[in-house]
Amino acid sequence: MTIIEFDRIDSTNLEAKRLASGGKDEWTVVMANSQNMGRGRLGRSFFSPEGSGLYMSVILRPKITPADAQLITVAAAVAVSRAIEKVFSRRAGIKWVNDLILDGKKICGILTESALDPKSGMLEYAVLGIGINLFAPKEKMPDELKDIVGFVCDSECTASKKQQLTEEILRIFKQYYDGLTERSYLEEYRDRSVLKNTPVTVIKGDKRRNALAHGIDESFRLEVEYADGTQESLSGGEVSIRL
Ligand code: BTN
Repeated sequence: MTIIEFDRIDSTNLEAKRLASGGKDEWTVVMANSQNMGRGRLGRSFFSPEGSGLYMSVILRPKITPADAQLITVAAAVAVSRAIEKVFSRRAGIKWVNDLILDGKKICGILTESALDPKSGMLEYAVLGIGINLFAPKEKMPDELKDIVGFVCDSECTASKKQQLTEEILRIFKQYYDGLTERSYLEEYRDRSVLKNTPVTVIKGDKRRNALAHGIDESFRLEVEYADGTQESLSGGEVSIRL
């Protein structure tokens, strides 16, 4: 494993993709103290202020089809949640698909980006990007994030804790990754899921529909039931919890 560290960068995912397409090895890890173009899911940005978070991207070269690429994200969600519990003794829940929640607030987001090998139809590489909010930044938070974003630590956490967390995440994730398609992390994902018989709003483009989220199926789809009794297994997209 090689770790490449930056003080400031556009995005660790972008840098890892640049390195991966230039042939860099699997398990090259790109880390940064801050990102000025942190990338989130669904084309969103990820607020990545200096020093207050853990921003990292891992180059992977799994022999899987694009349909299985989501397994990287869900395995990582379990790995990060377990690592936080080990290092900080705090149990973060998983909000399908890839958000970690502590005290009702988002403390971590995961974005896996991949490139396809057109000849084999398999992935050429994947970049697993993990962003964890460790403690509140000195700089002002954007207004729209204030009520949504939470932090793992109440005050500044030490560099040694940050390093321990990084090591634990990579250690646990590697165990899952070695048997990725065996899905040994499914039960742990279900156990840590915060969407169990939970009222949610299913968001599809500009359409919103209230539903009850029942649970996670064996393909990591979210099983929901709408008010009219119809059921759906969601394989991607977004839901918000109705309070
Ligand atoms: C999301 O919540 O929508 C996913 C956020 C993923 C953020 C991480 S931070 C490290 C890596 N580099 C990025 O640009 N994004 C991911």
